[in-house]
This record gives sequence, C-alpha cells and structure tokens, in this order.
Amino acid sequence: MQKIVVTGQKPLNGIIKISGSKNAALPIMAATLLTGEKCSLRNVPNLHDVASFVELLNSFGADVERSGHTVDICCSDIRSLTAHYDLVKKMRASILVLGPTVARFRKAKVSLPGGCAIGVRPVNLHIDALKKMGATGNIERGYITMDAPEGLHGEEIYFSKITVTGTENILMAASLAKGKTTIRNAAQGPEIVALAKTLIKMGASVYGAGSDKIIVEGVKELSGFDEAIIPDRIEAGTFIAAVSASKGSILLKNADIEALECPISVYKGIGVNIVQTTQGIAVSCDAKLKSAAIYTAPYPGFPTDLQAQMMADLSLADGTSIINENIFENRFMHAAELLRMGADISINGKQAVIEGVNSLMGANVMATDLRASASLVVAGLAAKGTTVIDRAYHIDRGYEAIEEKLQAVGAEIWRER
Ligand code: EPZ
Repeated sequence: MQKIVVTGQKPLNGIIKISGSKNAALPIMAATLLTGEKCSLRNVPNLHDVASFVELLNSFGADVERSGHTVDICCSDIRSLTAHYDLVKKMRASILVLGPTVARFRKAKVSLPGGCAIGVRPVNLHIDALKKMGATGNIERGYITMDAPEGLHGEEIYFSKITVTGTENILMAASLAKGKTTIRNAAQGPEIVALAKTLIKMGASVYGAGSDKIIVEGVKELSGFDEAIIPDRIEAGTFIAAVSASKGSILLKNADIEALECPISVYKGIGVNIVQTTQGIAVSCDAKLKSAAIYTAPYPGFPTDLQAQMMADLSLADGTSIINENIFENRFMHAAELLRMGADISINGKQAVIEGVNSLMGANVMATDLRASASLVVAGLAAKGTTVIDRAYHIDRGYEAIEEKLQAVGAEIWRER
C-alpha cells in the first residue's frame, strides 16, 4: 500500500503549474465516441482516472495514442458497445460513454457505476432523459442496456436535480439526435462550457452552455477536433487551501480566477490574499485564518470538491465554523481522520461544526476518497510533526504529481512505496 508522508509547518513559496482539468478531460474523451474522425486532446492531465478512461475506450475498440499531455483518439473502428463492470467500478465517470454511444450507435450496455465512498451516486436522471429522447432501457444484472433503433430525437429535458455528468451525457446525446433538445436546470460549470465548445468545434449546434438552459439542434454527423483541456479549478483550489494551511506565497500558473469566484471570495474572507496576475493566481497567507460558514452547492456555488480541503483549513481557524454538505450524503469521512490529528469537529447529518484549535499534530491517517486524501495533505502541511497518509492511491486519481509540485515550493512531502 502506498503512503504519502508530510512533515508540516514549512511555508510554501514559489510557482505551481496547474494541470489540465480531470472533470473537463473525461467528458471530452467521451465525446470522441460521437465521431469516426481523429480527435486530439492537449493539456490532458496524467491521472489514474484518465488512464482508466483510455482503458475503457480501448475496450470499445477505439485507437488511443498518448504522448506526454496529448491524447489522440479515433473511434472509427468501434467493435464493442459494452462498458464492463471491472472498468466502470474503478471510475464512476465511465457513465459518460452512455449518451454518446446510444446517440451514434443506437445501443449501449453500460455497467451501473455502483456507489462510492461519498454516496450512492445514482444515474437515474441520465437514464430517464435518454428514455425520453427515444431510447428503451432496462437494468439487469447490474448493467443498463439501452436501445434506440430509430435513433434519438430532441426533447425538452428538465433535470429535477442539477447533475454534472447527467448534463454532459444529454448534451452529447442531443448533438446527434433528430431535432431540438432543451436542457433545463442544466449544470453550469466551466467543464460544461468546455464540452460544449468542443462539440461546437465538431459541428454541433449548442447554445446557452454555462447557463441553466442549454439548447441543442441535432446534426447528422460530427467531425474530429483538436482541443486543449482547461486548467483544473479543483486542483487550483486545493493549492489555495494548502497555502492557507502552511502559510507562504505561491503563484498558481495558468489558474483561472473566474472558475473559482465563490471559494476565492470565501478564502479572502478568512484572511487569504488572492489576486489574478497575467501568469495565473497569486495566493499568500501569513495570518491565522478566521472562521466561516460554508454551504456546498452546484456551480457557481461553493464546490463540494473543495469541501474537505476547506475543513482542514477551518480546523485551525479562530473560532467556530460550519460546513453544510448539500451535494453528497456521505462526504465527511475526512473528519474522522482530522480528529486523529487533533481537530475538533462534530458531524450532525449534513452539517459539520468545526471548533478551531491552535495546532494539529501529525499522525497516521487513512485516505478514503480522492478529495479526502487532498484534505489530509493540507492538514499534514500545517501539522506539527509528521503525518503518514495511507491508501495514497486515492490522490493519484485526481492530482498529477502532487508531491513533486509541493516539494518544488518547499514542502517536506514524499511517497513511501
Ligand atoms: C461530478 O460528479 C464530478 N465528477 C464530481 O467530482 C463532483 O463532485 C460532482 O459532479 C458534483 O459537482 C465529474 O465531473 C467526473 P452529479 P457527478 O451528477 O456528475 C445526484 C471529483 O472529486 N444524482 O452532479 O457524478 C447525486 O447523487 C468528483 O472530481 C442523482 O440523484 O455528480 C448527487 O447527490 C467527485 N441522480 C447530485 O445529484 C442522477 O442521475 C449531484 O451529482 C445523477 C445525480
């Protein structure tokens, strides 16, 4: 089992280059299934989840070539329309192949993702929307099998809950459907806008991406594309949390302040200096943090993917903070590990109450999921002594070379195999 070891209380100073966004790269990789032409993706992060998605596309018969941060994908010779459980269980975002596969090949068989550490993670909204667009669907032995022999047709889709991958699946499916699709209560994040931009490059007709109402006029065929993946706002937000905990001053190269408006306003409010420069986002902090009240919400609200990292920061803030996790039903597992480091946190359903303490103490802790592992790195950077984070593989799903990036700005962090 791999472990990450951190010796805390070393201020961070220097430049960190932000990698391409995991949650923008995965849907755009899925969009390559919509065409038989070659697609080039640049600035793709080197992550386990990207490798898993390449494996999934390979299992469909796609031709995938990676060199550095460029991934060339060609889905001209698709020989399978089944996403197998052993691949899907590793990465829930595999569900993103459902929409494009049904749209282009008129059938798909995709293993239901199953739950994960942070929640049940149903995909009913994806399936119901595709059914409304003309696909039949039935669930048997853990797989969803969908058929649309006449092809999909445009529809008025109203999501009862804002779903990021649900919006992405329907956006891709609608691009090849007959007629017009309107997606209401759509997810609005930068990753949706990036996917829509790519689909438009492929010849799709998409309006309103980034708002809660997206209109798609289906076309008969889509072409290949060459697209650079946007910077990862959650990685950037994680490093803002890191400097807020360890103190110091770093430049987050290529980071986009607009994609982080809500969390940045919160961090400024608790005493962190953040400005956009021509190079990226400059972050510095040398004071004890103030307390805050956090409510996670769909974009542009406070991202649930930064909640765990913020909890580590607020554990050391002056006074009482609260965090309301409104997106996932079980996303406080990092709290138990922070308690082992001396934090004072009480959980009551969706709400965590955090009493700031003077310092955290290094300890042996366990990563339970991707963003929880990031939270433990943040806490380790601030703690007195050494923290050993077990099951470190979780962090590799969503962070490229995180130890190297932190070592380069003065952190004492390394990996024990
Ligand atoms: C995306 O997951 C992200 N993953 C998650 O990031 C992120 O936390 C999440 O959106 C919320 O912003 C990718 O983009 C690959 P949802 P997704 O559908 O699409 C419920 C990370 O750490 N729901 O927006 O799976 C669901 O249970 C990951 O990078 C249904 O009930 O999340 C949740 O409560 C973690 N039925 C809420 O909606 C459905 O059919 C939002 O989920 C779909 C979702």
